[in-house]
Amino acid sequence: MALYVIGDPHLSLSTKKPMDVFGGAWVGYVDKLREGFQVVQPEDTVVLAGDLSWGMTLEQSKKDFDFLNDLPGHKIILKGNHDYWWNTASKMTKFFAENGYDFQLLHNSCQLYDDVALCGTRGWFLDEEKGGHNEKMLNREVMRLEASLKAAGDREKLVFLHYPPIYQGYKCPEILAVLEKYQVKECWFAHLHGPSRRLAVTGQYNGTTFSLISADHLNFVPQKVRD
Ligand SMILES: [Fe+2]
Ligand SMILES: [Fe+2]
Repeated sequence: MALYVIGDPHLSLSTKKPMDVFGGAWVGYVDKLREGFQVVQPEDTVVLAGDLSWGMTLEQSKKDFDFLNDLPGHKIILKGNHDYWWNTASKMTKFFAENGYDFQLLHNSCQLYDDVALCGTRGWFLDEEKGGHNEKMLNREVMRLEASLKAAGDREKLVFLHYPPIYQGYKCPEILAVLEKYQVKECWFAHLHGPSRRLAVTGQYNGTTFSLISADHLNFVPQKVRD
């Protein structure tokens, strides 16, 4: 049994936004994902760290969910900035159950892997700042992260965010303060693709080790987090 993580599959099996148009690593990315998941066994768990599907609704994302569900491993999902299909937890849970998807949500909650708590939320980033700083939205994300960490109690906490809370030339002090308060030692983030990846801040910062796990950065192979 092992725990893996990967972000940004950006599937578009029933919409017309295939990522192959970006060229480079994205050419043939659906096949690459299928092959990359060969490292995962059916009993393993995979955290999918946002930007799962370009669909605008749950129905429109169904083919993408079918694809993800057919890949090996139990899936734990969190929201990315492009997951427009994201809905209330009750609607998503109902939809996933009706369609037989083995997906658990990381949303105002934590999930357990053995006795380790998997925590996380979408997070907050420069993209959002550019649209005009929205204190209410930032506070909501900070509260979601804190709710997730609180739910973990005294357990060891691993944090998964879609947005990097630190990036060259940008820091989100509110998110970083929560990571510090809950003594989070490891944090995985996604969202940065292609040339933007070189601006990622990885390694130790403020007592937390940060790792970039966007799909193109991992060459579409999920990264192992725990055995
Ligand atoms: Fe993305
Ligand atoms: Fe993203």
